[in-house]
Amino acid sequence: MSAKSLPPAITLALGLVFALSVITAAKADEPPRQRLLLDFGWKFHLGDDTVPFEHLEKAGVNPGPAGPGYNDLNWRPVNLPHDWAVELPFQSDGADANHGFKPIGPGWPTNSVAWYRRSFQLPAGNKSERLALEFDGVYRNCHVFLNGYLLGRHESGYSSFRYDMTDVANRGGDNTLAVRVDASEFEGWFYEGAGIYRHVWLVRTGPLHVAPDGTFVYSRFPDNVPKGPATICVQTRVQNEQDQPASGAVVWEILDPAGKSVAHFRRAIKLGGWTHTEASQTAKVSSPALWSPETPRLYKLVTTILVGGAVADRTETAFGVRTVAFDPVQGFLLNGRHYEVKGTCNHQDHAGVGSALPDRLQYFRVERLKEMGCNAIRTSHNAPTPELLDACDRLGMLVMDENRLLGSDPQNLAYLAGQIRRDRNHPSVFVWSLFNEESQQNSESGARVTVTMQRLAHRLDPTRRCTAAASNGDTFPGINSVIDVRGWNYFPEQVDRYHQAHPSQPEIGTEQASSVGTRGMYANDGQRGYVTADDEEAHAGINSAEGWWQIYAARPWLSGGFVWTGFDYRGEPSPYGWPCINSHFGIMDTCGFPKDNFYYYQSWWSDRTVLHLMPHWTWPGREGQEIKVSCFSNCREVELFLNGQSLGRQEMPRNSRLRWHVKYAPGTLLARGYRDGKVVAEETVETTTAPARLQLIADRSTLAANGEDLSVITVAVLDAAGRVVPVADNHVNFSLTGPGKIIGVGNGDPSCHEPDVYPVSQPVHTLALRDWRFKRGVPCPQPPEAAEKVDTSGWAKADVDVPYGPLTPGETALYRTEFDATPDIATARTVTLNFGMIDDEGWLYVNGHKVGESHDWSAQPYFVIGKFVHPGANSIAVSVKNNAGVGGINKGVLLSARGEPVHPQWQRSVFNGLAQVIVQTNKRPGTLTLTAASPGLESAAVKLDAAPAQARPSVP
Ligand code: GAL
Repeated sequence: MSAKSLPPAITLALGLVFALSVITAAKADEPPRQRLLLDFGWKFHLGDDTVPFEHLEKAGVNPGPAGPGYNDLNWRPVNLPHDWAVELPFQSDGADANHGFKPIGPGWPTNSVAWYRRSFQLPAGNKSERLALEFDGVYRNCHVFLNGYLLGRHESGYSSFRYDMTDVANRGGDNTLAVRVDASEFEGWFYEGAGIYRHVWLVRTGPLHVAPDGTFVYSRFPDNVPKGPATICVQTRVQNEQDQPASGAVVWEILDPAGKSVAHFRRAIKLGGWTHTEASQTAKVSSPALWSPETPRLYKLVTTILVGGAVADRTETAFGVRTVAFDPVQGFLLNGRHYEVKGTCNHQDHAGVGSALPDRLQYFRVERLKEMGCNAIRTSHNAPTPELLDACDRLGMLVMDENRLLGSDPQNLAYLAGQIRRDRNHPSVFVWSLFNEESQQNSESGARVTVTMQRLAHRLDPTRRCTAAASNGDTFPGINSVIDVRGWNYFPEQVDRYHQAHPSQPEIGTEQASSVGTRGMYANDGQRGYVTADDEEAHAGINSAEGWWQIYAARPWLSGGFVWTGFDYRGEPSPYGWPCINSHFGIMDTCGFPKDNFYYYQSWWSDRTVLHLMPHWTWPGREGQEIKVSCFSNCREVELFLNGQSLGRQEMPRNSRLRWHVKYAPGTLLARGYRDGKVVAEETVETTTAPARLQLIADRSTLAANGEDLSVITVAVLDAAGRVVPVADNHVNFSLTGPGKIIGVGNGDPSCHEPDVYPVSQPVHTLALRDWRFKRGVPCPQPPEAAEKVDTSGWAKADVDVPYGPLTPGETALYRTEFDATPDIATARTVTLNFGMIDDEGWLYVNGHKVGESHDWSAQPYFVIGKFVHPGANSIAVSVKNNAGVGGINKGVLLSARGEPVHPQWQRSVFNGLAQVIVQTNKRPGTLTLTAASPGLESAAVKLDAAPAQARPSVP
């Protein structure tokens, strides 16, 4: 691997990432709309200790984690996005290979359910305001509770959802949000992660407001060709959530990419209480700046609802002016012209973090793909997170926006409708994909279901066509006979036959190649699960990069297509199973390090001058043996030299590569690329010596101190001459100082079983207190019997593990026990006493000190007692009053002592010379220093500047 294959530093201007956030925070003279990020400060617990968790007999009463009084002090703090599956160890025995051998899903109940809790305060505010929670995506099957009330259940792990919480929110006080996530079932056949792996938002609006996803803005031109002024069509759904009718106007303003106002128009509205209305209008924008991947220019629509001159609501929506169409002869048309789709399919999964990608990582991945010349992403096989679409809008990347499942049942249609409403303003989205490789793709029923889905898509979005990823070759009956644009998964050898038979149907390559290769490996190794990165060796013919692309490049009517895949992802190890735990279909590995095929695509997809040699040139022991050397380049001719000796000059065939067979001798391979007889590029690959030192290269070294921004840092092992050692596998330890944290490590090795994350752990010591005595008739509270030392030898034994009893109506009693505070309890950071039930009321004393009270028999009260505990014997006294029915201390008492946090050592081996560390800022500015150390190697350090930055408005 040559040093040039390292990702270059990113030049993206810092502000760009969040500059166009769609909603403005409310100021004093502004409407009450606020959209606050709810990602920070959650508590997490793997497991489901309280079953049943959902109480169906009474609303708003949930004594377990769903309820407000639950003790989550021992739960682990986490920020979102969070994927707990990535934290689990790999398991060869019984864990699903397609899900990356993680012990989760069917058969792994203890790892498959988890809880998240978050408390927040709400200002007293205006009672007529509406409050809602928005989830970009939770994997999967979640129950969301607020203050013990069930807000809703959501099954899909991929669709966004929203719950109004106005009725059950506690204004002017504390609120407890609890989310139970159940990932016991799979939705896909690939790594899917688990947990709240996308953002959560708290949205506050006035009663009269723009409905959720209630804005649709698109442009029209005569004949769908952008000449002359654009007609901007705007639809706004206005919702009136109050008794009073409302009348006023929706006012729209369009700002051009430079922020200049270019149109201002309005429509009067009138609507009754608790109804909604649609307001539509059009405006002309002359000489619009068009959106394309090469010119990702964004306009902004500002929608204001005015009532009697006052602003009731205001939203901002980014959009682009462009046209998309499909033609059976010319293929895909962008802005009226044939545009070749040079796409990759991708799952939401990255080294280190699993499916929980912070937004900056979405940008990082889109940037890597663009560097390769890729201009389109297929969001296989599910709705993407909205932030990926934002990145594609802003950086310039087309998107095939894919729905998860074939289905015309109400639930599936609702998911599809939600996805279209949410995503249809994104200029990057150019086509809807209704599903992937469905078993019913050839059946009549499959066709009927597709017709229903497609009808819905057309109704919600008249500007885009639908496709479906069909893996049935030259087959027309079934879904191919009804779909707008025939989608081809594989079978490039059958496209001509099909096209001749169905010349009026547009087509696109939804999924091609599936060529497998491991970065930096040049031989198959079934034992270790590696496949040669020379995909000509691994997949001769139409399934190689060269094979499929030559067919597509020669047929414009195919519209171009999508490679399976841009990046490796966890799961689907192929062709070998364990120890391989990743797919290696990617053109890049899970870190985004390029494999050699990257340069094949870059040669023929990008405008850059490309010259890349494969393989590396460090083959001790193979002196004199023939090694195939390939060159990926878009130069007209390439000449290869070994140690200064020419091995011949060859002409580069279009969409191909060149090959030489070279007798290995250590030294330097040099390639010279020519155009018009002149040297336009040179590339050298040198034989390296032993690993000598480490190198750290940050993709960005100035970060925003906003708690979200991050740097993707490449770890390289170099020899004494500073060359990346392409076979190095050194184990590296990392440490970070300054205001930030490491959130994940990876190395792209598809068979590596080292952890990607090292969560901070906190030892918890628990003690069930069972040895109680009690005395009836002791008055409440503060009786002398609650003193530090009391002789209880004459008192009755109390069983506190029973569900009810033993006190009768109106009876009082004093309960006592003792415990030995061993050093782990006496020195613990937090000690709590958890009661299953104190029925009806109780007053707690530790060593004679009053600790607290409980007045709710249905709660599971807990008390923080650490400051009253001393080493050795400690006494506990509870004064109990039973008001009605039976009462007492019931359902168990547990003492728990949480120790100091243990910060583990982050570490990772490099794989073929490279590894990756992802470092994220917190909200404090300062200098972060990442250090890498490995025995026998010179250490390396990199400094990152966390610059003062406005964090996104978030829930405190
Ligand atoms: C396709 C499928 C993808 C992936 C791929 C592996 O058929 O659509 O999700 O499984 O095969 O080759």
